[in-house]
Amino acid sequence: MIYTLYGEFLRNANPETYSKSSVLEIEDVSLVRFTYGGKDSNNNSVIQTESHTTSKLKIGKYASIAMECTFMLGGNHNYSNITTFLPFDIADLSDEGRNLHLLTNGDIIIGHDVWIGNNATIMSGITIGTGSVIAANSTITKDVPPYTIVGGNPAKIIRKRFDDETISFLLESKWWNIDRKILEENSKALFNTDIQKFKKFISEINS
Ligand SMILES: CC(C)(COP(=O)(O)OP(=O)(O)OC[C@H]1O[C@@H](n2cnc3c(N)ncnc32)[C@H](O)[C@@H]1OP(=O)(O)O)[C@@H](O)C(=O)NCCC(=O)NCCS
Repeated sequence: MIYTLYGEFLRNANPETYSKSSVLEIEDVSLVRFTYGGKDSNNNSVIQTESHTTSKLKIGKYASIAMECTFMLGGNHNYSNITTFLPFDIADLSDEGRNLHLLTNGDIIIGHDVWIGNNATIMSGITIGTGSVIAANSTITKDVPPYTIVGGNPAKIIRKRFDDETISFLLESKWWNIDRKILEENSKALFNTDIQKFKKFISEINS
């Protein structure tokens, strides 16, 4: 089954009802509120998730998700069977049957401030670290460490976004948990390549 989620829906989703969905798990209202994605020319799909009854897609704060991304939460035909042709056993495609025939490697977890390029496919069981960049048209089959740019099919590491010390500082700062209004007022500290300026902002927030 393909679930199609909508940009506006992602932005304005009511966490009360949304958390009951089998697709997205919401642990924090801002998880969805601050994530955005593109729409196609028909103003329709933004994210497609190949669903499995048990696995979830969890998206951190401030994720940027481009058009036509697919999150393969399951849907792995059980190739250990003699045949992968599901309709032979269509009668058994109840929830229990689906769990036997359509396998998953687990939840997909997207960290904070992740940018996912056009037409990327993320396989089940994958964790994409905070601050990472997924290149357009990539297929992600392995976990992505924080602040790492990956690309290709299967995706390989292209480079780190920053040096190790800067990455540690960014992760420890947990800036995505700072009140959104404060972040907006200080956006110049974020839209900036000057780590010293960012450090000053964090130290002012913490003082
Ligand atoms: C990943 C990305 C950000 C890298 O941009 P960049 O820093 O300018 O990188 P470069 O073009 O200099 O390429 C760097 C390396 O990554 C490789 N690379 C770039 N894009 C790639 C892709 N989509 N898949 C695989 N490899 C890719 C290049 O071949 C190059 O490899 P090399 O070092 O072996 O020569 C960019 O290529 C990309 O995919 N952006 C996504 C755009 C998008 O989908 N936007 C949607 C609107 S939000």
